Amino acid sequence: MSGEQSIAERFRAKFGVKPHVYRAPGRVNLIGEHTDYNDGFVMPAAIGFYCWVAAGPRKDRKLVISSEEFLEQIETELGKESLQRSGSWSDYSVGVAAQLEKEGFELSGANLLIHGEVPIGAGLSSSASIEVATCIALAEESGLSIDRTRLARICQQAENEFVGMRCGIMDQFISLHGRTNHALMLDCRSLEFELVPIPESVRLVICNTGVKHKLAGGEYNRRREECEEAVRSLAKALPNVRALRDVNREQLEKHRGLLSEVAYKRALHIVTENKRVLKGMEALRRGDLLQFGGYMADSYVSLRDMFEVSCAELDLMVELANRERGVYGARMTGGGFGGATINLVDAHCAAGFAENVSKAYQEKTGIACATYVCMPGEGASRVESAEEAR
Ligand code: GLA
Repeated sequence: MSGEQSIAERFRAKFGVKPHVYRAPGRVNLIGEHTDYNDGFVMPAAIGFYCWVAAGPRKDRKLVISSEEFLEQIETELGKESLQRSGSWSDYSVGVAAQLEKEGFELSGANLLIHGEVPIGAGLSSSASIEVATCIALAEESGLSIDRTRLARICQQAENEFVGMRCGIMDQFISLHGRTNHALMLDCRSLEFELVPIPESVRLVICNTGVKHKLAGGEYNRRREECEEAVRSLAKALPNVRALRDVNREQLEKHRGLLSEVAYKRALHIVTENKRVLKGMEALRRGDLLQFGGYMADSYVSLRDMFEVSCAELDLMVELANRERGVYGARMTGGGFGGATINLVDAHCAAGFAENVSKAYQEKTGIACATYVCMPGEGASRVESAEEAR
């Protein structure tokens, strides 16, 4: 279904001209959860599921966006005032156009056909993939050259302001900067990053719980507020603290009395998680997968008990994973409250692992469990030839 050729053909059938085709991947996060909006460290990888955007020029200044998933087409006039939030799927794309214009980039009118293959609600960043694919398409079709880190910020801003989800920068950043067979260690304050090779001897196995609890969006913003509350309280004693990134464990314990119980728990997760990412990077560099897997396990426990973003289905999926052979580490990935787990599994055991976990999960819950055995993929790009498409 997907692929440059087919989406290009479908675009031509609809709009009568040959388009350019762009694609942007979803992501999985290996470690460093909820740390991005605390100016901390994360280590995601791009995955081989993409949002595809076929784009062609228009003579007027309209943006016509057609979604193959939602079987819907929207039409809007470019220009800051006319781009309005509608509360639907198109906000991710229109929001990006609005943000580009807000930052002074003049866009040309365009027809866009969007095909998303990143599973929605699985915690694999289908929204960032739509934003990024739209953003590179609009920028390139308008003849603008914008560096990738700026594009990531534009997409994040669009989601924060237009969609109303106060996400950090991780998802958009990895969708733009991901590299095949590498995880990316990002300092979310400086936006400096380092690519870390994933050994050929392992696979990333993603297990989708198939549930997305309704509270996800609201609870996410709430966690962010609780972290901000912790910063405000700690800053009374430690005036140099701008974000939880600036706090170490000793300081947190020393000033625990300034924090509510909830704010303390949230801060404890962030402070320890940042450490785990940095130590995890060293372990991966040494090829010490057991050690890295141990940090993944600790990350999960902290997310479950301190940050409180897990749920029964994720807990079960992690428990089932830990019973299997060849597993280095298992944890929930993404914002939480449903979605998927990420498992680092010996390459020889990966297929059996996926089959066993999926079967056991379905037996216990009655919910079908999709699994993906993969290695990190490449970041967003324009698709130049049919060979690049799948
Ligand atoms: C979502 C957000 C990210 C990040 C993760 C949690 O995916 O979009 O910015 O905060 O949750 O790590």
